[in-house]
Amino acid sequence: MKILVVGSGGREHAIALKLKENPEVEQIFAAPGNGGMAAFCTLANVKATDVDSMVAFAKENAVDFAVVTPDDPLVLGMADAMEAAGIPAFGPGKAAAVIEGSKVFSKNLMKKYGIPTARYETFDDEAAAVAYLKAQNTYPAVIKADGLALGKGVIIAKSEQEAVGAVHSMMSDRIFGASGSHVVIEEYLEGPEVSVLSFTDGKTLVPMVSSKDHKRALDNDEGLNTGGMGTIAPNPYYTPEIAARCMEEIFLPTMAAMNAEGRTFKGCLYFGLMITKDGPKVIEYNCRFGDPETQVVLPLLKSDLLAIFRAVRDGGRSEVPVEFSDESAACVVMASGGYPQKYQTGYEISGLDEMGQAEGVTVYHAGTKLENGKFLTAGGRVLGVTAVGDTLEDALCKSYAAVEKISFQNVHYRKDIGKIR
Ligand code: AMP
Ligand code: GLY
Repeated sequence: MKILVVGSGGREHAIALKLKENPEVEQIFAAPGNGGMAAFCTLANVKATDVDSMVAFAKENAVDFAVVTPDDPLVLGMADAMEAAGIPAFGPGKAAAVIEGSKVFSKNLMKKYGIPTARYETFDDEAAAVAYLKAQNTYPAVIKADGLALGKGVIIAKSEQEAVGAVHSMMSDRIFGASGSHVVIEEYLEGPEVSVLSFTDGKTLVPMVSSKDHKRALDNDEGLNTGGMGTIAPNPYYTPEIAARCMEEIFLPTMAAMNAEGRTFKGCLYFGLMITKDGPKVIEYNCRFGDPETQVVLPLLKSDLLAIFRAVRDGGRSEVPVEFSDESAACVVMASGGYPQKYQTGYEISGLDEMGQAEGVTVYHAGTKLENGKFLTAGGRVLGVTAVGDTLEDALCKSYAAVEKISFQNVHYRKDIGKIR
């Protein structure tokens, strides 16, 4: 089979590597892919958001199965476009991807179907939003732009002044572009965060092993929010008791709600949860695998990923096994100094060969490119160094040992991944 994996991050590297384990897979196209994927995939110079060109590429190259990984092409309807062109695709259609594409949609869905989440109101008028903030007078307040906003559209305001400023910057100054035309203002929740990815075909849903993302740029959860600086799996806060509640109160009701809305979700549904003192609540839904959650979840998957993808797409999810090892995994992201703000790229990465040999370690590439046989940095998050071990400590130890052997100019990584406070 010829497979197309759309996207270019560490998540896509992890998915492609896992798919390659299936002996039926002859060739994997990565569009646009990265330096690490070049070793075992055919890179295609097509932008992940260019739906028409991606479908044309898939047709020209007789792709048998397309995996649409990132949020933006899914929200644009790339999975539907592949299917319409006769190419089976993994990933929700546009109607279901709105669960991530619009926070107003997802909040209203949760309210309508009684799924636990932070209390909120939505606004399309700045004056009304400001009046609401003043009437509530409770801080911190959480202000979210409606649309995708590159995962950065959330401001946690500690005072009225900050909150009013945040609403103004989203709604009038449009710092997050058009996604600021609508905002959600919600209650601030406290508790440990857990990411749970799941496979669902709309009939059944199976959660994957839980994980924990470290979103802030600096140690001790300081600095700006990033796409994710490191992950561990399983998440120590996700006890069997919490898992059972999540299944009953959140996961299955969400699947049923999407069906009831005529928006059946088929693909990987990601639950961003907070374990509050009143129980687990939804912080956000994503319509796709998380990055870097995937880099710790898939190394623990014992089952055939391609078989799962095909079954989810065909509506036969319950017929294929989805089993995880009971080991632990840790991923430390090595980023370009300055990320998530300004940073320089084009630096040579050294130490990669040696690390490719280390037992239980996989280096997933994200912002890298291969030029004249050398790996160069080419993005904010450069590498995700993952290790699997019998215990979390073991996995962390191996991962950090590998990180210390890899280097490039201005490298930045967190030293406290997996430290639970
Ligand atoms: P989101 O993009 O919705 O995942 O939000 C980004 C981050 O902001 C989350 O991972 C949380 O750490 C934080 N956050 C979002 N909503 C809330 C909330 N209602 N209360 C507290 N923190 C939140
Ligand atoms: N790591 C968070 C996300 O993928 O949205």
